[in-house]
Order: sequence, then C-alpha cells, then structure tokens
Amino acid sequence: MEAEELLSHAVEARNSAYAPYSKFLVGAALLAKNGEVFTGCNIENASYGLTNCAERTAVFNAVSKGVKEFTAIAIAVPGGGSPCGACRQVLNEFNPTMKVWLGDENGQLKSETSVDALLPDAFGPENLAE
Ligand code: THU
Repeated sequence: MEAEELLSHAVEARNSAYAPYSKFLVGAALLAKNGEVFTGCNIENASYGLTNCAERTAVFNAVSKGVKEFTAIAIAVPGGGSPCGACRQVLNEFNPTMKVWLGDENGQLKSETSVDALLPDAFGPENLAE
C-alpha cells in the first residue's frame, strides 16, 4: 500500500479523536504485514497526563485483535508533526524498521522516515533476552 492511501486512513481516524482539551485532532493508521489496516486517534483525559496518542491507540487496537507485525504507520497531524517519544518507544517494540509516513490533516504527505531513524539506540525486547 502506498503512503497516500495509508495516510487517508489516518486522516479519517482523526474524526474519532477525543481531544476536548487541546482540540488537536490526530489520526494514525498502521499497516499490518497481512495487509490489514488498524487505525487509532488521540484520546485525552481530564487528568491530562493520561492522554493516549493516536499512534499508541492504533498499536493497541491492532494488538488487541491479535496482530503484531507491522510494516508502516501513517500519521495525520495538524500542520504536520512527528510522533512523541512514548509512541516511538511503543512502535519500536513491534518493528524498528517500520516505515513512518508523516502527513497533515488534509492527507498531504510531508515526510517519510522510519522508527529506527526516529529512535536510534533504542531499548527493545532483545535487551531483555538472556
Ligand atoms: N498527539 C498525538 O496523538 N500524536 C502525536 O504524534 C502528537 C501528539 C496528541 C496528544 C494530545 O492529545 C494532543 O495531540 C496534543 O499534544
């Protein structure tokens, strides 16, 4: 699947965002190895620190459905933007070489990178192996 197509799923996922505090609507779409797409949106909370970003929602959505192999994620952020550190760590858990397609709220692709470029020298599952 091309970046623009996956990004269109991320743009659509913004419609479900729960962001009454920041009013900053973010959507993410994860492409699984089996071709399935799993989306997520940001979900804020009155206890602000408990906010869950769109990227992590997408990962938790997929994993809760039994899917753990991903090849790419597209993220629709107003004005364009890049995943926060917590989301980079969660994405790294499942595939450090995952492509990351960054776009804006209109589905305009802004840049293409990868999880390992965004989080070099990451701590991952291999560090816990004996
Ligand atoms: N947010 C995301 O969902 N993903 C990002 O990549 C950046 C930030 C959310 C968290 C919060 O609900 C709002 O955007 C403002 O930070």
